[in-house]
Amino acid sequence: MSRIDQETVNKILDAADIVDVVGDFVQLKKSGANYIGLCPFHNERTPSFSVSKSKGLCKCFSCGKGGSAVGFLMELEQLSYVEALKYLAKKYNIEVKEHEMTDAEREMATERESLFAVNTFALEEFEHNLLEEPDGRDIGLSYFRERGISDAAIKRFRLGYSLDRRDALLQAAKSKGYDEKYLITTGLCIKNDNGQVYDRFKGRVMYPVFTVSGKVVAFGGRTLRSDKNVAKYVNSPESLIYTKSNELYGLYQAKQAIVRKNKCILVEGYMDVISMSQSGIENVVASSGTSLTEGQIRLLHRFSENVTVIYDSDAAGIKASLRGIDMLLSEGLKVKVLLLPDGDDPDSFAQSHTLEEIEAYIAENETDFIRFKTKILLEGAENDPIQRAAVITDIVKSISFIPDQISQLVYIGECSRILQIDEKVLKLEVEKRISQRAEAELKSPHNTQTPDQDAHKAAVDYGTSMADPRDRRAAVSGKAFQLLVSCEMNLLRYVLKYGMVDFCDVMNEDGQTVPLKLIDYVNDELEADNIELVSEAVKSVFEAVKVQVSQYWAEDEATFMADLDKRREAFWQQGQNEIQQTAVDLTDIKKKEIALKEECDNMYASECERFTTDYLESRLASSADDNVRRLTTELVSEKYQLSKVYSKYSKVETERDRLIDLVPKAIATLKEAHITVLLAEERERLINLDKTQPGYAEAAAECLQQIDTYTRLRMELARNLGVRVIVPRR
Ligand code: CTP
Ligand code: MN
Repeated sequence: MSRIDQETVNKILDAADIVDVVGDFVQLKKSGANYIGLCPFHNERTPSFSVSKSKGLCKCFSCGKGGSAVGFLMELEQLSYVEALKYLAKKYNIEVKEHEMTDAEREMATERESLFAVNTFALEEFEHNLLEEPDGRDIGLSYFRERGISDAAIKRFRLGYSLDRRDALLQAAKSKGYDEKYLITTGLCIKNDNGQVYDRFKGRVMYPVFTVSGKVVAFGGRTLRSDKNVAKYVNSPESLIYTKSNELYGLYQAKQAIVRKNKCILVEGYMDVISMSQSGIENVVASSGTSLTEGQIRLLHRFSENVTVIYDSDAAGIKASLRGIDMLLSEGLKVKVLLLPDGDDPDSFAQSHTLEEIEAYIAENETDFIRFKTKILLEGAENDPIQRAAVITDIVKSISFIPDQISQLVYIGECSRILQIDEKVLKLEVEKRISQRAEAELKSPHNTQTPDQDAHKAAVDYGTSMADPRDRRAAVSGKAFQLLVSCEMNLLRYVLKYGMVDFCDVMNEDGQTVPLKLIDYVNDELEADNIELVSEAVKSVFEAVKVQVSQYWAEDEATFMADLDKRREAFWQQGQNEIQQTAVDLTDIKKKEIALKEECDNMYASECERFTTDYLESRLASSADDNVRRLTTELVSEKYQLSKVYSKYSKVETERDRLIDLVPKAIATLKEAHITVLLAEERERLINLDKTQPGYAEAAAECLQQIDTYTRLRMELARNLGVRVIVPRR
């Protein structure tokens, strides 16, 4: 959670001018009501990056990336929410007050901060040992020099040395006032059964592991002995600040190069990263020996969707590691594979070639993964039908993991050529795989996926498919579920775009007509029929809307109105002055004053309208919650595209004008979808009733009764009668 208080957050968001913020990174030109420029997220020659000043949003119509000022910064600069806010605060000279933490928060933060603090201390200590201490220089530094590591690389990766003494680090830390317990929880020291505490990494050269934002969370220590009984590497254990499966070695140093080249090279070890990087190939990260995890892939994906995996060329290793790559594919990454010449690993290859040679080698030899896999597997299997069948199954599986259908088709075409199999057959096989997997997933509603994975999928899936694995779809068939979710998305879109608009008039208890906001109308409608949202993603945004309205709207509106009153006053004054100077006689003054008043009123009304319509979308598009921010941006920018077309024919009724028809219809459609689901369930129950059981006739009659009720309800809805009678506002 954000540790900046809400008031300051609002101040920052209000100050942030999207044109100004984006303008620091992209050259913008005015084009109609918007600004356009070259998209900073992908390479292009003609501008498709559009910035809307009034909406406070930007979006690339080619690659789809963009968002609010905060979202834009997070994406482009790879900042956290709070970092992005701080960036803006600095840009607009807003003082950031961190909010008072609760005791529990403080304890947690203190613990985390303490762990970071000892790690930072150890990092500096190890560095100091390597560069300044006689032992460190003689043993550690000369080792790195021997391996061809430059001083610049040592500095860049902050390599170090842990003195070969029982508890040198422990003593140094204690003398600086660090608590022993934090040295133990970070794993820098180990407490044995006798209660003795000693340094974990003694006598090893040290590779610190950094998070994306550059905090040191762990260390790898390599022994300098060739004794086979000593573990080559010792690594920090997991802790409050370190989850192994969520970090990639070298990413902090590589991230800018990865974005710049829009490609990441994946290697195995610490040394591979360092040697490649000092050769000038800086977009390199390592999985540190283990197979890749989903968390690491996701992390990578934030920076680029192109990954080249480098293997050393022993064949057994290759076949074993092919498996892990399906995961890269299923996350939508474009994977290439590079084999190094016999006997080389990335480290030795980089050390023995120039940058030009390495670049040329990569360019000439990297192969698309599926093509690569097909060829490798097919080697020697061409004439054995059983082996060939196994290869085909394997390839089909890989292709079925690619989320993008067009790429899938391209691969099917290509593999059909290499494997000499009819394209149609391959396609059928791929489809079979996909549906098998979907079915298996459906059957296990509380499936093996962790909430974290699900949250990610949900965030990625918007717009493309509506599938959201977190949702309770156990009882609902896949198709019906999709229908419900798309109805919910549609309704949510209206809420985000027009939620604060006065939608219709209703009678209050005293018999007066009062305006009802669109958000309240929608909430009432959903509550009246006890409709629960099935999509967790939609639900969380709805919740965020409710919080925004109940906690912040009143004050935000009051602030806005007070400001608007001042502006109106200033506008009026200025107009008055002009009239004084230009009017010829009293009648002229009167005429001009009437015109001025009208102008004032128009300005006032249109500013109010703008504030109310933009309120929810602009606040939620800058939410701290990833899901809320992304879904909001996704849903509102769609319309923003549409309105471009509309505005060309200004006489055409806008969506805004037709809300009174559109929103009730959207609700009715959602209700209808629910009834469709209920109907299907009831029919299912009827079919499954056991005719041999005594109560069969009654049970069946009951089912039929229900079916009848639902059918009627549905017809009623279709005629739009289920919707409350409402009085349109004039
Ligand atoms: N690794 C590990 N523990 C081990 C062996 C390996 O954590 N006992 C991890 C390290 O992250 C290492 C990577 O696996 O960097 C690759 O292992 P390896 O190729 O053996 O190490 P290199 O990084 O190549 O180290 P060096 O060249 O110094 O032997
Ligand atoms: Mn090596």
